[in-house]
Amino acid sequence: MKVFVTGATGFVGREVVRELSAAGHKVRILTRKGNAQQTQEILSHFEAEVHNGNVVDAASLQGALTGMETVVHLVGIISEAGKITFENVHVCGTRNMIAEAQRAGVKRFVYMSALGTRPNAVSRYHQTKWAAEELVCGSGLDYTIFRPSLIYGPQDHFVNLFAKIIRFSPVVPVMGDNRARFQPVPVEVVAAAFARSLAEPESIGETYDLCGPETFTIPEILDHIMRAMRRKRLKLHVPMKLARCQAGCLEFIFPCLFGKPSPLNRDQLVMLQEDNLGNSKTANELFRLRANSFRERIAEYVR
Ligand SMILES: NC(=O)c1ccc[n+]([C@@H]2O[C@H](COP(=O)([O-])OP(=O)(O)OC[C@H]3O[C@@H](n4cnc5c(N)ncnc54)[C@H](OP(=O)(O)O)[C@@H]3O)[C@@H](O)[C@H]2O)c1
Repeated sequence: MKVFVTGATGFVGREVVRELSAAGHKVRILTRKGNAQQTQEILSHFEAEVHNGNVVDAASLQGALTGMETVVHLVGIISEAGKITFENVHVCGTRNMIAEAQRAGVKRFVYMSALGTRPNAVSRYHQTKWAAEELVCGSGLDYTIFRPSLIYGPQDHFVNLFAKIIRFSPVVPVMGDNRARFQPVPVEVVAAAFARSLAEPESIGETYDLCGPETFTIPEILDHIMRAMRRKRLKLHVPMKLARCQAGCLEFIFPCLFGKPSPLNRDQLVMLQEDNLGNSKTANELFRLRANSFRERIAEYVR
């Protein structure tokens, strides 16, 4: 199949491209930075075509899907900066990709949502993922939607961030009451689900949770990372009010001074206080997915 992948240069996207290429699909990637290191890395490993464009700019997508049969739409953000907002990227970006698919006659559309996406979600991340899901479901395209929990793997943004703090600091901040539970899922499992869905007509019109077999709170995840790194650190409880103040300041400072999104924002704090649990039995059976133990897998890369 000829597959157009958005978000291909990201953490999950690179693994999805690897999985699609291994399955024999021909890939064309969308990127905003044609010459950037991640794009060049993909091109050095896989036979991929490149379309330069931005999902929020409909004109830049024109012709992107010529000759393609499927769209795998992975673009998403976790933090906003200036005009790069959840609304623009998740909702307008998905609307633009759907319109381009309809214009080019591409019927198959696989969308990356997130676990916790639901009507009346509290976080704006989840609210806008829900609005995007609604667009996909109403598009008339042959869609499949995936909702993964936290995704981990050698280049993730989450285990690696904690590992960095553990490496350089004697204390590790943990925000809020920390009772919320998560089911981290390996990036290889997520990528396999995306690639295998293309060969499963049964997955058309369906939405699947993707979660790992184990359930952890954030302090438990930290303990596993520390054990894997063979280091001990003090976990410093930061009350939610203080964490919100810190996040608010960072949200202002980072875009103004560094022109990039804050590493911590108030929307993330909302999500960190909610259980992020799902049921991936259906996806595991249909796509033959199996996740190894979280602790064993992270030990391979945090050390
Ligand atoms: N990581 C997780 O734990 C997790 C969990 C659940 C769901 N998800 C979802 O999975 C998807 C991928 O996440 P990730 O962790 O791989 O993110 P990432 O590493 O930050 O990658 C984001 C990708 O999106 C692209 N992108 C961002 N804005 C764009 C725009 N306006 N136009 C075109 N491309 C744009 C970036 O491309 P360029 O910068 O090269 O242009 C990059 O390839 C997102 O939708 C995210 O919400 C992630």
